[in-house]
Amino acid sequence: MPSPSTVLASKVTDAIIDAFGDDARGADPALRPSQFADLQSNAALSLARRVGLAPRDAAQRLIDHLRVEEICAKAELSGPGYINLTLSDRWIARQVSAVAGDGRLGVPRETPQRVVIDYSAPNVAKEMHVGHLRTTVVGDALARVLEHLGHTVIRQNHIGDWGTPFGMLIEHLLDVGEDSAEARRLATDPNAFYQSARAAFDTDPAFATRARARVVALQAGDEETLRLWAELVELSRQYFAAIYSRLGVSLTDADLAGESTYNDDLPRICEELEAQGIATVSQGALCVFLPGYTGRESEPVPLIVRKSDGGYGYGTTDLAAVRHRIGTLHADRLIYVIGAPQALHLSMVWETAREAGWLPPEITPVHVQIGNVLGPDRKILKTRSGAPLRLAALLDEAVATARAAIDEDRPELDEPTRSALAPLVGIGAVKYADLSVGHDTEYVFDLERMVALNGNTSRYLQYAAARLRSLLRKAGVEPEAVGSAITVGEPAERALALLLLDFGEVVSAVGRDLEPHRLCTYLFELAQTFSVFYEQCAVLTAEPEVRASRLALCALTLRVLVTGLDLLGIASPDTM
Ligand code: ARG
Repeated sequence: MPSPSTVLASKVTDAIIDAFGDDARGADPALRPSQFADLQSNAALSLARRVGLAPRDAAQRLIDHLRVEEICAKAELSGPGYINLTLSDRWIARQVSAVAGDGRLGVPRETPQRVVIDYSAPNVAKEMHVGHLRTTVVGDALARVLEHLGHTVIRQNHIGDWGTPFGMLIEHLLDVGEDSAEARRLATDPNAFYQSARAAFDTDPAFATRARARVVALQAGDEETLRLWAELVELSRQYFAAIYSRLGVSLTDADLAGESTYNDDLPRICEELEAQGIATVSQGALCVFLPGYTGRESEPVPLIVRKSDGGYGYGTTDLAAVRHRIGTLHADRLIYVIGAPQALHLSMVWETAREAGWLPPEITPVHVQIGNVLGPDRKILKTRSGAPLRLAALLDEAVATARAAIDEDRPELDEPTRSALAPLVGIGAVKYADLSVGHDTEYVFDLERMVALNGNTSRYLQYAAARLRSLLRKAGVEPEAVGSAITVGEPAERALALLLLDFGEVVSAVGRDLEPHRLCTYLFELAQTFSVFYEQCAVLTAEPEVRASRLALCALTLRVLVTGLDLLGIASPDTM
């Protein structure tokens, strides 16, 4: 269901061609929101010179050719050549009734594509950090939105489960004992294990020697070493799964596609690159030199695909992943939700894959760049002591902060309700903070602000939804069973209806531009607009016909809010 601005843009475009013929083809309908009408077109201003008319005359001519009787109450010439367009209440009512009667709430079903999304990707035997949290949350929202639009989404959790750190990790596992508490804790809290392995490696030369030998054994496929490695991976899998389930993230074990899954491909990747003359040996390492990639002294910066010791790197695995995603998963679209600093790495990988013929010309991978999450000191968020942050502890703190806010604002709720609410509000707030700003911008992590009832927060949206639910309960109607016949009269009612018409296009735009914050902004605006409506328009006490229409409008607002929050991966509790 196209939004009012899309409908009018096409009407203005038709009028332009009708009025000025083929010369004017491609002219911009130039629609924008206006203070004096629903939308204003200033197409005539830019067209006037081209068609040899004064701007006001060009505008009048456009108005004469506009076929909007069904849509607009008014189309008026204004100022130096603007056209003010006012939608008719009847048209708005008809459209919004259609949205209310549509199970998809106006969200289009797009031509299905196979979309591969790389997101989350934490590292084995290591704490997930706030950067991983943010890619997880943003990637998951994008996956949900694209699925809802009708695409086949293939989630790829490219976990770091291979490479040189496993030498020290396996040796440390042997030192503490496989059945030790420290090893078991990898499944819930990997920090201590990783830190002590690292410390042993840095301070104990004998340990470091063993660790290096262990890497060689791992790469050689030594059976016992592989068993220990698999043990580490399994414990981490449990840790990741626990975090995902707490976050309400849709990633499952089936989406795990760690670096190690590509091990067997890596020699072939190198051989092919070398055979095609794309990679060359430089100082013992197999390198790809791409034009335009230079360092500070304008020295060429290579993508190293095989190190001089014969080991493969992060880039080689990513090349194998591109080939797999295209060749085996048959992706039509490739999305990488990864930290902004990896932009250079990704573009080198993609260019190399392109040259090698693994990335067909019709596919342009997209890097959804994830920005930093900062502490109050505006440095990357760490604990107060400067020690690495435990993600589980951060989530605990979010839930506790939510609990305190609920206790303060809603003392009348009983204790079980408040404690059930706290995780829904706290986790929702953490996710919404990541989603409601541009994915590539930095922001300061501030729990108090994130769980506030006022402002652009998930709690505000959850509250608006709960308020609507309680209103419908009072009216004695089920949100899904309310009729869909809506009329509009009052300005606040009209404004709410108009905004509801945009939902489908907002969701579609998020799928296209991969910017979840636009959905957040829309939902926030919707909740605010509803609030004004509710202040200005009686619902329960209105005349029966108006009451039925307004209840239908409320039910639609609720469904849009809940669907929108769900696409963001955020729960909408019944009571708030
Ligand atoms: N494991 C990496 C990290 O923690 C992120 C991997 C992202 N995905 C990829 N295909 N390179 O930084």
